[in-house]
Amino acid sequence: MKAWRIVQFGVDQLEQVETALPAPGPGDVLMRIHAVSLNFRDLLMVKGHYNPKLALPRIPCSDGAGEIVEVGSEVHGWKVGDRVAGIFMQNWLDGQMSSAKTRGALGGDIDGMLAQYVALPAEGIVAIPESLNYEQAATLPCAAVTAWNAVTRAHPVRAGETVLIQGTGGVSIFALQFAMLMGARVIGVSSSDEKLARAKTLGLDAGVNYRQVPDWAPWVLEQTNGDGVDLVVEVGGSGTLQQSLMAVRVAGTVAQIGVLTGVEESLLIAPILHKQIRVQGVYVGSRQDFVDMNRAIAYARLKPVVDQSFAFDNVREALQTMESGLHFGKIVIRVAN
Ligand SMILES: NC(=O)c1ccc[n+]([C@@H]2O[C@H](COP(=O)([O-])OP(=O)(O)OC[C@H]3O[C@@H](n4cnc5c(N)ncnc54)[C@H](OP(=O)(O)O)[C@@H]3O)[C@@H](O)[C@H]2O)c1
Repeated sequence: MKAWRIVQFGVDQLEQVETALPAPGPGDVLMRIHAVSLNFRDLLMVKGHYNPKLALPRIPCSDGAGEIVEVGSEVHGWKVGDRVAGIFMQNWLDGQMSSAKTRGALGGDIDGMLAQYVALPAEGIVAIPESLNYEQAATLPCAAVTAWNAVTRAHPVRAGETVLIQGTGGVSIFALQFAMLMGARVIGVSSSDEKLARAKTLGLDAGVNYRQVPDWAPWVLEQTNGDGVDLVVEVGGSGTLQQSLMAVRVAGTVAQIGVLTGVEESLLIAPILHKQIRVQGVYVGSRQDFVDMNRAIAYARLKPVVDQSFAFDNVREALQTMESGLHFGKIVIRVAN
């Protein structure tokens, strides 16, 4: 089978290799991968910025969907032909996170999904919604589960509340879709007026261009009668957190998810205590979260936004597109044509 491997860091260093089909153990299933989606983490991983000590070679990418082509002798509940996706952290099945559960992330601690076939433990997969094709389903394991947890766990969004999204990448567009599902008003900031216009076709209520208005917290306050938003889905990191703390309401929540602009910040701490803000880290989620989210997606017939899809041979081009930041929603690799 064909697979892509990080052998040295750098998008240009990625290698496509011919390698043996994985042999599933008695508790495993063998998946034929149909589609893989990219996350910003995959770009960082390939470039060596996520974990400079990553053990190489490593098959990248956490998110893939496909069909089961073989089941191990001890596997119950799955059969050949089932349509499934891998879960991001193979050891976090349910409940609260623990350090043991965070080990075993696909495309990081262990080989990921950017291959024609992948063997995973039977509990490390979930069924994908029937309403989605493989390309759409491949977008779910990381970005969608993270956004789902921001709006259901970090701050359980209630109808009529206001949620702020940052940018129009994978996590943010899922957060827009899920928050709307819960009856919230969603406002956002983006680098591009065209992207804001596109987000409005999905239901974004109001937006501002952060290139033109880098200090956008006063705009958020104007939009919310001076109160601030109930939840900020924070993907910017050091470049946006201060604005987020000013834009969130008293006793509101900042769901800290991303580090797009960096990981270190000299921070004004006072607003956190004066406004009693909850800054809640979100790190993807469990298998059970994924299952719960899929039920909502299926019932609401929610369609993930796939911006562009690339052929398996064009992975480097797909990663460069992600790096350019020109995408809207998700970038997908077609593995089986
Ligand atoms: N904690 C977790 O579990 C978890 C899970 C998934 C992702 N993440 C992190 O979340 C972040 C987003 O990931 P992703 O996969 O959704 O990335 P992505 O699809 O590449 O989205 C990136 C988008 O963010 C926007 N952006 C960039 N700089 C910004 C800024 N200063 N202010 C506001 N928006 C900005 C841009 O959209 P516009 O052009 O519209 O501005 C850009 O296209 C990354 O840091 C990633 O590592 C964390």
